[in-house]
Amino acid sequence: MSALLDIEGVQPEIPVTPVQGQRVFIETYGCQMNVSDTELMLGILQDAGYASAQRPEDADVVVLNTCAIREHAEERVRGRLGQLRALKYRRPDLIMGVSGCMAKHVSESLMKDAPYVDLVVGPDSYRKLPDLIAEARGDAALDVRLDRGEFYAGVDPIRKASSNAYITIMRGCDKFCTFCIVPYVRGRERSVPAREIVRQARAAADAGFREVTLLGQTVNSYRDGACDFADLLAMVACVDGIYRIRFTSPHPSDFSEKVIETMAREKKICRFIHLPVQSGSNRVLKAMQRSYTVDDYLGLVDDLRAAMPDLCLSTDIIAGFPGETQSDFEATLSLMAQVRYDSAFMFKYSARKGTVAFREMPDTVSEEEKGRRLEAVIAQQNCISEKINATYVGRTLEVLVQGDARKGEGLAAGKSDGFKTVVFPREGVADHALVQVEIARTTLRTLFGRRVPCAG
Ligand code: SAH
Ligand code: SF4
Ligand code: F3S
Repeated sequence: MSALLDIEGVQPEIPVTPVQGQRVFIETYGCQMNVSDTELMLGILQDAGYASAQRPEDADVVVLNTCAIREHAEERVRGRLGQLRALKYRRPDLIMGVSGCMAKHVSESLMKDAPYVDLVVGPDSYRKLPDLIAEARGDAALDVRLDRGEFYAGVDPIRKASSNAYITIMRGCDKFCTFCIVPYVRGRERSVPAREIVRQARAAADAGFREVTLLGQTVNSYRDGACDFADLLAMVACVDGIYRIRFTSPHPSDFSEKVIETMAREKKICRFIHLPVQSGSNRVLKAMQRSYTVDDYLGLVDDLRAAMPDLCLSTDIIAGFPGETQSDFEATLSLMAQVRYDSAFMFKYSARKGTVAFREMPDTVSEEEKGRRLEAVIAQQNCISEKINATYVGRTLEVLVQGDARKGEGLAAGKSDGFKTVVFPREGVADHALVQVEIARTTLRTLFGRRVPCAG
């Protein structure tokens, strides 16, 4: 095994070993950053001569691109590896790889616990994938070094046909929220040069994508020299052929007035913000090191809504953070009721080895109590989401068509500007078109309607 030192450093140019007739299958876990990284890996591997396989059974190289955000995410990957082991034993020449955040988080134990894994590769080492795969044909290969100089500039991702193209604008994170593993597995925060982002947006538009989503852990702290996040949004908005711009996730502490003004002015930027709050208790926010108070957050929501009255909002909530009391938890419920988010991602706190909370804050809330609190936030949020959606009946929304609806013959699905899923009879409309849909009926997660002619 070639165990490389786990330190940050500038990586030299790596010569690529070309291959022929080899097929790779990558399965993605975790957030959109990982989806985007999988697309980069496919781009890098295609340049090296690999074709892609649709199923692990048809591949010469199988990679699980993994997430480490909660214990459950890692358990899923271990379960999947267990399933794929049979394939490896049937075909010993198959290269089994694990990439991404979990690869970095548990690299050593992964190779010990799953000796049939040939390749472990961290988020900053994907340029070396072709050579690491070649190396893994001899002895197991491991490279989980973090590299603050790696932006994957110049790599052309292979994207699935869709209306939306993800573009990673920042890698890593410097916030070190006490519960979060991301800064440890993805390294220091760095911004991709603006020129490269605009190049990617143009290439996406030329390839037929109509929407771009700019990705990073704290997108609104983006900076490339004098160019900040607001400038970047304005630059991407100038790309012809891109109708809609989204971004995720902004950090509540980094939302400048300039970004709010740019959003309000530029109609291509969607009226939807995912604004993770985590907790409604100042005491818990402090222990989490979130760097804002409840009042700061609510003030920001007011400013955003004043500038964009039709803005839709979603958030992330953690239930059962160490030391969270019943009254802290009730403060979260009350903040959520006050903001009235359109939707929310809600999680039980999961202690992550390596974080400050893991080291210094005993996991005081029992699993049962975490479960109860989670159910309570979900129930309240579902009720709010349902009520908000019901107010859409009779309204006409512009919808970017994504494809067939998951259920229902002849139905298409797309997203509204505010990121609501809208389902309507397709009636010959092509994917990736912009259509007007009048909403007739709504549920917790979906708005249903019928196309109407374009106004003007
Ligand atoms: N960078 C984003 C969040 C990325 S992680 C931000 O700061 O907004 C996505 C979400 O996972 C977080 O917002 C948080 O709600 C959740 N999360 C992160 N670590 C967690 C943990 N240890 N336990 C439970 N949820 C966690
Ligand atoms: Fe994690 Fe906080 Fe960074 Fe988000 S901002 S990735 S929660 S450390
Ligand atoms: Fe994303 Fe999971 Fe990594 S949420 S950044 S894939 S730890």
